Amino acid sequence: MSKLRVGVLISGNGSNLQALIDACQDTNFPAEIAVVISNKADAFGLQRAREKGIPALVIDHKEFDTRAQFDDGLQHLLDHHLVDAVLLAGFMRLLSPGFVQGWHNKLLNIHPSLLPSFKGVHAHEEAIAAGVRISGCSVHFVRAEMDVGPIIVQAAVPVLAGDTPASLGARVLAQEHQCYPLALRWLAEGRLSVVDEKVTIAGAAEAEGALMQPVS
Ligand code: GRF
Repeated sequence: MSKLRVGVLISGNGSNLQALIDACQDTNFPAEIAVVISNKADAFGLQRAREKGIPALVIDHKEFDTRAQFDDGLQHLLDHHLVDAVLLAGFMRLLSPGFVQGWHNKLLNIHPSLLPSFKGVHAHEEAIAAGVRISGCSVHFVRAEMDVGPIIVQAAVPVLAGDTPASLGARVLAQEHQCYPLALRWLAEGRLSVVDEKVTIAGAAEAEGALMQPVS
């Protein structure tokens, strides 16, 4: 069976990319990473990809006059590598509505909070400031608005007394590395459908989309 060809977009460390690379190493995994693209030349994730022989490209947004032109350049690279689906993994650029619409229900993002709470780049600071007892991460289909879209899988972790954004972030990140490969597997198996902006996972109990980490 042919595998789903995935393009992964990054801007930085790429630990989620690494989790996806590791999952794809299993010959039975239904997806493969066709290309990794970063808008930053010094993103460590590029090295992670190159170590595994995955094409790793840079497209610098500063070289484009408009967001739409940058997104056209991105689209060109994805087309060239025959990509079927795109995963944002710490990609720190907002994509234009036209690009997002072109990848409708084939474009995923991972965010380090239990959406719809704490969108944006300060999720852990805001979770701690709000005093929530539980935080987590979400993998979702991307819509034009930032950190909005049908939720595929979430994992919950406790927020502990004395947590800093860094300590909470590390706990959440460990769960991100479980969630993203799982969501990709379901996507590649064709098990995800979106009705009324809610995701159904074919052949799964609804709870399968929720990973709970026990509070110890
Ligand atoms: C993750 O926390 C992800 O949820 C957010 O950006 C971070 C990327 O981390 N969108 P990494 O580059 O995958 O290590």
